[in-house]
Amino acid sequence: MTLEKIKIAIDGPSGVGKSSVSKYIAKKFNLIYLETGIMYRAVAFYFLKNNLDYKSFLCIKKNIFRFNLEIKIVDNISKIFLDQEDISDSVKNSKTSQIASIIAENSIIRENLGNMQKKIARENNFIIIDGRDIASRIMPDANFKFYLDATPKIRAKRRFEENLSDNKSLEFLEKEIRFRDMRDKNRNIDPLKISKDSTIVNTDDINFVEVCKKICDIIKSSDK
Ligand code: DC
Repeated sequence: MTLEKIKIAIDGPSGVGKSSVSKYIAKKFNLIYLETGIMYRAVAFYFLKNNLDYKSFLCIKKNIFRFNLEIKIVDNISKIFLDQEDISDSVKNSKTSQIASIIAENSIIRENLGNMQKKIARENNFIIIDGRDIASRIMPDANFKFYLDATPKIRAKRRFEENLSDNKSLEFLEKEIRFRDMRDKNRNIDPLKISKDSTIVNTDDINFVEVCKKICDIIKSSDK
């Protein structure tokens, strides 16, 4: 298989395993991996750290240019820097992630982060990007588009079993996931939705290895 470009868009709801799958596929095909969720999380991190009102459009407008956000690709994986500090690990917690979902409804933020993402997508022909609006907005020219899905119950169960639950009960996790889905799917701008040209990979009854195999097989058998 010799493809002139491998541009893969992976969309899907929170907790469906996009980032583990994307990392695996990136390694397998030697691609750059851009995780767009950490960019929204980084803005949330800034607002939380500085005790700013992340629900206020005006406050966001006033503060969006006060910090410097950079995404750097290190060893093929995206790292996020806030005012020169690598905060990639600090943004990986449930609070930052919840606030990121609220912040992601803001048009100024979406435009800014979206432009940074589109630039990286344009400049790289061997790339996998994951998020919510990748197939439709960030990389519409991707030659492979996937939408990973699983029911809230299954996603909550996995999170619970992987011990990523911060001691929350299974019921609470499921409620949290449903609430997040509702916000991500119903916002006015770039809501999470299945792009018409995406292949849906339902992961309810298949494990991580099987999901990766399914995606790898589609890429390997393609002449796009
Ligand atoms: O992928 P994640 O869970 O790290 O994303 C955190 C939040 O960021 C998610 O709830 C919605 C928002 N997000 C978005 O709106 N668009 C993206 N491309 C990626 C994330």
